[in-house]
Amino acid sequence: MSEVSLDWENLGFGYIKTDFRYIAHWKDGKWDGGKLTTDNVLHISEGSTALHYGQQCFEGLKAYRCKDGSINLFRPDENAKRMQRSCQRLLMPEVPVEMFVDACKQVVKTNEKFVGPYGSGATLYLRPFLIGVGDNVGVHAAPEYIFSIFCCPVGAYFKGGMKPTNFIISEYDRAAPQGTGAAKVGGNYAASLLPGKEAKARNFGDCIYLDPKTHTKIEEVGSANFFGITKDNQFVTPLSPSILPSITKYSLLYLAEQRLGLKAIEGDVYIDKLDEFVEAGACGTAAVITPIGGIQNGDDFHVFYSETEVGPVTQKLYAELTGIQFGDVAAPEGWIVKV
Ligand code: PLP
Ligand code: COI
Repeated sequence: MSEVSLDWENLGFGYIKTDFRYIAHWKDGKWDGGKLTTDNVLHISEGSTALHYGQQCFEGLKAYRCKDGSINLFRPDENAKRMQRSCQRLLMPEVPVEMFVDACKQVVKTNEKFVGPYGSGATLYLRPFLIGVGDNVGVHAAPEYIFSIFCCPVGAYFKGGMKPTNFIISEYDRAAPQGTGAAKVGGNYAASLLPGKEAKARNFGDCIYLDPKTHTKIEEVGSANFFGITKDNQFVTPLSPSILPSITKYSLLYLAEQRLGLKAIEGDVYIDKLDEFVEAGACGTAAVITPIGGIQNGDDFHVFYSETEVGPVTQKLYAELTGIQFGDVAAPEGWIVKV
């Protein structure tokens, strides 16, 4: 199928209306069959819990065009399972994994012309979301729910993509120690809007949050997890109950150890021990791997590898991860789902 005419090499990360989206309704204890629609506007009750009490969650995953023209999804079952965990935390009905993955496939198939050409760097970003709807006003779980998936063709999330980006340590928290940081729920992102705006106004890509209990350890970027590479070849990424368990991060932990021979560690990353790292990066579906040039912490600016060059381990991890996603490198069992 031919693609639509877009400047594929230079797409940023923005909303572009595509042809079809999937929508399913939950009522009286069950999901309906779900369907594709061309309508990108939702008509919901003014009392919807998603609007008042933040009873909603979302996911993000991508479809990748391969050299042979086929299309890959990367670990969509992991997104389905993470959405189930978000639903458990916010008392929402879970979407079965099979229904989630099947809906992703339907959305990609019917919007195939929006999956950028192989080699352009563009991908089709899928945004599944689940919201509490129906007439309600008290603080309790909604009587009805909508699960939907729309998609947009996207390029780099951070300007420049695989180029070093600088970040700043935030004085705000995005999540509480026993709060909802590990769930992909809108409230965490609402909390990150002001810190993110302040960071960008100072020319940083985004901010990095510290652990909300002690403010001594790196947690994550507002839209991606953090990793660092030590002098002695360890891939280290924070372990915390208040960060989002990134599917990209877990994939990199595996690839770092199994394919690059590094020691992969989830542990504490103390903000006053950044000189242990010779390289650092932000990783996520949207961010892919974004090398971190430097981190501003108060008056101190710490540079990792370089503000202009990408370190060799970060480069290798990027090649391995994106090679798998675009079908050029053999994937570990079950990581790729063909559309
Ligand atoms: N952390 C946050 C706060 C995010 O929004 C994301 C994006 O989904 C990630 C980390 C990366 O997660 P994943 O690799 O599953 O996309
Ligand atoms: C993702 O990487 O899928 C995200 O959700 C990050 C951001 C767009 C919120």
